[in-house]
Amino acid sequence: MKITILTLFPEMFEPLRQSVIGRAVKGGKFELEIVNIRDYTQDKHLKCDDYPFGGGAGMVMMPQPIGSAIEAVDPDHRARRIFMSPKGRVFRQQMVFEYLEYDHLIFLCGHYEGVDQRVLDLYVDEEVSIGDYVLTGGELPAMVITDCVARYVDGVLSGGSLVDESFSENLLEYPQYTRPVEYRGLIVPEVLRSGNHAKIDEWRRGQAIAITRKRRPDLLGE
Ligand code: ADE
Repeated sequence: MKITILTLFPEMFEPLRQSVIGRAVKGGKFELEIVNIRDYTQDKHLKCDDYPFGGGAGMVMMPQPIGSAIEAVDPDHRARRIFMSPKGRVFRQQMVFEYLEYDHLIFLCGHYEGVDQRVLDLYVDEEVSIGDYVLTGGELPAMVITDCVARYVDGVLSGGSLVDESFSENLLEYPQYTRPVEYRGLIVPEVLRSGNHAKIDEWRRGQAIAITRKRRPDLLGE
C-alpha cells in the first residue's frame, strides 16, 4: 500500500512520522509520500492560489499546480484519488475496507476557500469529509484517514489488536484495565482476574452491548 498526500503544507504531516505509523513507514510496511503542490507550479512567483471569479472572501487553489502534481504521482490513474472536503461522503470505519482494496491512495488537501472545481471534475474520484464541521484545510482529515487505513495494513499493528476494537461487530469496545488491582479505591472487576476466559468473554460482550446501548443506540439499530 502506498499513500500519497498532496498539500501546500507538508510540514503539517510530522505526526505521521511518530509512534505506530511512523515505525511502520520506517519499517517499510507501507509507503507514505508527502508532496508539496507548490513544487509543481509554473508560476514564476510560485503562486498556487488566486481570487475567486465572481468575487467573495478568500483565495482558491489554482488548477495547474494540482493537476501537474497529480499527473506526476499517478500518470495512468491507477490510484484512488480522494479530495478532503466538508462537502464529501462522511468517513466511516467501513470505508477503510474499501480503501484497502487499492494499492495506491491519493489524498488531496484543499486549503483557504477550496480548490478550482475543474480539478475535482478532471482528477478526483470522490470527495470525503471526516465529519460535519469545517476545518481550515484538508491536512488534518488526510492524517485521520491515513492513520485509520494504515493500522489495517499487514504488519502495522501487532496480532490481535484489531479483533475486539470499537466498531468491530458494530459495538463500542468494553472497558480495559491494567495494574494495579486497586487505584484510588477503584478495583479491577474480579472476573478479569479470574483466569476464566469464557466468563471474561461473556463479561466483555455484556459491557460492550451496555456501553453501545447507552452511548450509540443507533449502532444497535435502536
Ligand atoms: N476540510 C475542511 N473541513 C473538512 C472536513 N470536515 N472533512 C474533510 N475535509 C475538510
